Amino acid sequence: MTCKQYALFGQPIEHSLSPRIHAAFARDSAVAMEYVAHASSAADFEAKLQAFADSGGDGANVTQPLKALAATLAETLSEVAQRAGVVNTLTRRGGQWHGDNTDGAGLVHDLAERLRLDLRGRRTLMLGAGGAAAGVLPALLDAGVESVTIVNRTPQSAERLSERHDDPGRVNARYWKDLATLGAFDFVVDATSAGHSGVALELPFSITGARTLAVSLSYGAAAARFLAWARAAGCSDVQDGLGMLIEQAAASFEIWHGLRPDTDPVHRELGAGRGEAALLGSD
Ligand code: ATR
Repeated sequence: MTCKQYALFGQPIEHSLSPRIHAAFARDSAVAMEYVAHASSAADFEAKLQAFADSGGDGANVTQPLKALAATLAETLSEVAQRAGVVNTLTRRGGQWHGDNTDGAGLVHDLAERLRLDLRGRRTLMLGAGGAAAGVLPALLDAGVESVTIVNRTPQSAERLSERHDDPGRVNARYWKDLATLGAFDFVVDATSAGHSGVALELPFSITGARTLAVSLSYGAAAARFLAWARAAGCSDVQDGLGMLIEQAAASFEIWHGLRPDTDPVHRELGAGRGEAALLGSD
């Protein structure tokens, strides 16, 4: 059996659990493959991806800050990736890259199916408007959240992401400085990469209520500050992004290998679902 080649591109990825997760799926599914992390910046990603393709690469995951760039480098895009405008999964097909996005499906699967949290009707606040936010937004809307208010450090990106969805009744952008005037949300998603640089977001407690679900799309040390803030704010459910990471990896694995891995052993092994930033690392 030939060993197929997969890779992860992004920065920072030194502590990423993705190689370990894909190795566990491959072992349990008896798939022969190699999955290697390549630190890559926006400046060198295109060249590194080309070199990976030239060396026989079959597929890749893409993480921060490269998801929007990956969408421009893929020759074809799935419907999900077209809607999101960002790509986290690349597959080599007929000498071309096909782009997909499994972040949204991974997040919704983790929250709604694995953790049995009802997302329907939730007034949602999205912190951040980069690749992670864009990737999960369509799936959250499809899962039935009532509305999504996007705030971002750079307001123009929040505006652009909101306009992309062209649904002013449900998706809108606001200024970060106005957060204290927006009332309480039922669902607060930290989709920023601030935690990777150890920066604490400035957030008023007034955006949460007793029944607020707070979710970081990061995990490990990168999620710790937001999760601590959410607990201090009294949120009823506080989750990190480890469960999403495992579920989006499973969806990528299925795209590449044609079979859905059992994620339960990996959730158990990595300790997802405790709402704790138990692991050092970031993706
Ligand atoms: P990812 O794929 O993780 O979304 P990204 O596309 O680089 O990575 O996007 C990072 C997001 O985190 C952006 O929304 C960014 O805000 P800007 O658009 O203003 O850059 C946000 N972000 C990063 N560091 C931040 C910080 N210290 N405070 C607030 N937002 C931050």
